[in-house]
Amino acid sequence: MEQEFWQARWRENRIGFHEAAPNTLLTRHFPLLDLEAGQSVFVPLCGKALDLDWLLSLGLCVTGVEFHQGAVEEVFARLGLTPEVTQADGLTRFQSGDLTLYAGDFFALSPAHLDKVDAVYDRAALVAVKPQDRQAYAAHLNRITGTARQLLIGFDYDQSLMDGPPFSVPGSAVRALYQDSHGITLIEERAAAGRVGARCNALEQALLLTPLT
Ligand SMILES: C[S@@+](CC[C@H](N)C(=O)[O-])C[C@H]1O[C@@H](n2cnc3c(N)ncnc32)[C@H](O)[C@@H]1O
Repeated sequence: MEQEFWQARWRENRIGFHEAAPNTLLTRHFPLLDLEAGQSVFVPLCGKALDLDWLLSLGLCVTGVEFHQGAVEEVFARLGLTPEVTQADGLTRFQSGDLTLYAGDFFALSPAHLDKVDAVYDRAALVAVKPQDRQAYAAHLNRITGTARQLLIGFDYDQSLMDGPPFSVPGSAVRALYQDSHGITLIEERAAAGRVGARCNALEQALLLTPLT
């Protein structure tokens, strides 16, 4: 089961995807999201990424969802925040100030959980989803965010060299998922760091997805 796979990764501390600093493709290209303080950003499959702290530091309202409750609790503890914890239609909602994180399944989120979403920040989320579930992921993300503008950071590599996750999601696959809802621009690609870079010569790519009007 998908959830058990990820819970085991967290329990066993096999979280090589977690970065020790905010992702520099985010910090460099964030202005393209055209957000200002007070607006909201949704971070699917957020883990305990320091990207959350960075987005909050800009005065944004940040909402995320993550299977592993321990990761959610760690984010609040790191920020020195004591969240209000409530049950919300099958998910556990942790909220303090501008930060709301749901512990539970992304696919259980509804638009009512999110209010208005001004932008989506997907780093290592789409690439974490099994290829056969990608279409459902993209459709659900569009449904719950009202097809918001999106900064998407993922990987492109030869899938025969390594089993995912992270899976290779090249630009052509992103287009197949989102071309009916968004214009898609490759902003930057660079050699990926870590295991995926070392094993597969992977590229880490940042794409901007702009809703079609
Ligand atoms: C590759 S990690 C990326 C985490 C984070 N975005 C980052 O940059 O560090 C993928 C995360 O998604 C979570 N996850 C996978 N499928 C999920 C789902 N359906 N609902 C909620 N979380 C999920 C996993 O537990 C894992 O923490």
